[in-house]
Amino acid sequence: MYKIAVAGTGYVGLVAGVTFSEMGHQVTCVDINEEKVALMKTGVSPIYEEGLEELMQKNYFLDRLSYTTDYNAAYKDADAIFIGVGTPERADGSADLTHIATVARQIAESIKKDCLVVVKSTVPVGTNDKVEQFIQDFLVNDVQVEVASNPEFLAQGSAVHDTLQADRFIIGTESDWARDILMGIYEPFGRPIVCVNRRSAEMIKYASNDFLALKISYMNDIANLCELVGADIQDVAEGMSFDDRIGGKFLNAGIGYGGSCFPKDTKALTSLARENGYELRTVQSAISVNDDQKTKLYKEANKRLITFNGLKVAVLGLTFKPGTDDLREAASLVNVPLLLEQGADIFAYDPVGASNFAKRYPEGRSGKGAITYVSNIEQALDDANVCFIFTEWNEVKVVVPDRYKELMRTPLVYDGRNIYDVKEMEAAGVEYHSVGRRSSKFQGSKGVKKNGNSVLIKE
Ligand code: UDX
Repeated sequence: MYKIAVAGTGYVGLVAGVTFSEMGHQVTCVDINEEKVALMKTGVSPIYEEGLEELMQKNYFLDRLSYTTDYNAAYKDADAIFIGVGTPERADGSADLTHIATVARQIAESIKKDCLVVVKSTVPVGTNDKVEQFIQDFLVNDVQVEVASNPEFLAQGSAVHDTLQADRFIIGTESDWARDILMGIYEPFGRPIVCVNRRSAEMIKYASNDFLALKISYMNDIANLCELVGADIQDVAEGMSFDDRIGGKFLNAGIGYGGSCFPKDTKALTSLARENGYELRTVQSAISVNDDQKTKLYKEANKRLITFNGLKVAVLGLTFKPGTDDLREAASLVNVPLLLEQGADIFAYDPVGASNFAKRYPEGRSGKGAITYVSNIEQALDDANVCFIFTEWNEVKVVVPDRYKELMRTPLVYDGRNIYDVKEMEAAGVEYHSVGRRSSKFQGSKGVKKNGNSVLIKE
């Protein structure tokens, strides 16, 4: 078993550290944030991830897992140090490597024995060569250090499962010594391990994420065309999925992808390509389709309604996907400001993301509109004129079509996640718009009345 230090306790670092300890390794998680470290010592996870806290508590109790702000103590005699700090996006779309550089410098100044430094953060191809040189330049003691690439593929909301049951681990090394250490660390997981060189490992991460982003944008593009020619994207996706070469996953059309990875990694790879004199046109298209897709339903609603001003708008789901409180690049962050700008009176529901959202858009008046956070869906729908669904939470999925009709003043629903059956919504008397499928319009609609006044909806 190995003595491991992990730098950074975000999604990547913490899940890696905790699962390594679960495999029996001796792990110290390092973070500069004292409050966070104190919290973790009490067995509380700073992030919302199923199964994580149980493993944190178990392995802390077994003395295989500890937390500290003292990087020097954690790094000095580690066999391997994993870097899992953030690589945020710069204004030009490239990856900001400041945090990696800080940790690399600390490692160089701390280590007192030969050590493998493993970069888990997503970094542009070639970065690990530079990190290795950087550490060697700043080394204080006479020790051997090598850098390996070990990209992370976990998805938020299923991070522990994705690691313990990983499809594969990617190990990118430049020597047998480095490869053997990483093999030794990952063998206890009993999952497939792919050994490649460092640059290929770095590229596998981007190529995988960008391929998935492309898959989603492709389906969204086809979905938009389906609407125009009378096809149904869900039927189309099902028909496609039986082809093993295509596969059945990541074929769901909707209002685009969000999260911490796809938006950032698509931009980073196109930016890397450009730096190398190449235009990565496929990925560029995926980005541009996604940008448009996020406001697709808002634009449609805008055509259908005379104004949002003074209307009660129910917003169901704020996070970029279910199972997380993360709002990064969520469709809600683009649509809510547009609705507020028009004077909408928003009633927003999200089972876990509302408090994060309220940090950016505090409850109360906001611009011409207002936002209220409600703790149940019925409160959001009650007397509403329009409903937008941005996240397919189970809590939303269980609301039956009749409830929209019963609760809303005008049952007009824009579903960005294709939760409902079009026919069922129609049968319930709901005007239902989704992505890549036929819309149901109010029958013989002369418009929907608001406060007894006539046409709210354009002909
Ligand atoms: C993703 C990758 O799945 C993971 O391997 C990588 O390490 C990090 O990025 P994550 O961002 O957590 O993980 O979530 P994911 O479940 O992949 O969803 C990303 C976005 O794509 C969400 O907004 C989701 O709603 C959207 N999506 C996903 C679709 O619109 N359609 C789909 O078919 C699948």
